Amino acid sequence: MPADAQTTFPQDEVHHAVSNGIGAPEFNLPLPDRPEIITANILKLLEQAHDPRLRFLLKTLTRHMHQFITETSLTTDEWMKAIEFLTRVGQTCTPIRQETILLSDVFGISALVDAINNPPAAGATESSVLGPFFTEDAADVELGHSIASEGKGEYMFVEGTVKGTDGKPIPNVTIDTWETDDHGFYDTQYTSREAPDCRGRLRTDSEGRYSYRAVVPVPYPIPGDGPVGEMLLNMRRHNMRPAHLHMMFEAPGYAKLVTAFYPAGDEFIQSDAVFGVKKSLVVNLEQVNDPERAKALGFKRAEGFKYLRKDIVMRTEAEARETRTQIDEKTGLPLFDD
Ligand SMILES: [Fe+2]
Repeated sequence: MPADAQTTFPQDEVHHAVSNGIGAPEFNLPLPDRPEIITANILKLLEQAHDPRLRFLLKTLTRHMHQFITETSLTTDEWMKAIEFLTRVGQTCTPIRQETILLSDVFGISALVDAINNPPAAGATESSVLGPFFTEDAADVELGHSIASEGKGEYMFVEGTVKGTDGKPIPNVTIDTWETDDHGFYDTQYTSREAPDCRGRLRTDSEGRYSYRAVVPVPYPIPGDGPVGEMLLNMRRHNMRPAHLHMMFEAPGYAKLVTAFYPAGDEFIQSDAVFGVKKSLVVNLEQVNDPERAKALGFKRAEGFKYLRKDIVMRTEAEARETRTQIDEKTGLPLFDD
């Protein structure tokens, strides 16, 4: 940006209003005095964008936005309401609250982007939405140890093996896992949070195995006290997510896998407010009533616990690229418009 291209400055300083440095286009545009000329003019102007993919995305977005406005004969009042709503969405965001992601989530946009970019492939474990509650500060947890402090909910033991699509175990996979406590809250939602809880980072052993103690997650509402919450009320939609356990897997040479597992039988499993559930991610929790086994696994109160066995299959980076190429070829979707 040129040095003078700022919008505020002290009154006693001399400045000249300047453009962003890009000159008038070399082609002539008709004056935009009819709806269809406005649309045609901006599409023509977008031809100037250098990056071909950006040009394609902007032109397609513009066409759809203009089509929406003409198709609905949007009123001036409605558009002002939309502007005020989007402004409030932005203003609701803080360093630990992401209302814009929530907006994307409840419109199914996050799930759609995930579904298009991570189609089911060659027996690999399917992905799910990341959601807004992942943090980078989870503590390292030894295999078999607990990610939850005592008293956070009903006991659950989780274990499995991480393999490639070739069936070979993958050692040293970094696993991040996070979940709600039995009140339906993530640790970050407590103002008293001093340290991470109900989340942890593990690494698979030399045979690709992982295991940890956790608590049974419960269904929870996505934040309802902001503009997105108000919008859901106007849509007459609930704001609940079915119970789930988030897991994220990373290993060199493999495509990062962000997923979650949803215990079967949840009341909200088919109407998840953010469309995160896929059939292959629904799991059964086995009830184990064996105090001795509970004790041996390290649970404090020697009683029953829920057991989840989940084996994971990761795609290599090359396999993930190949899958994306196949999808593009199958759909015939142009990556660029030229
Ligand atoms: Fe979640």
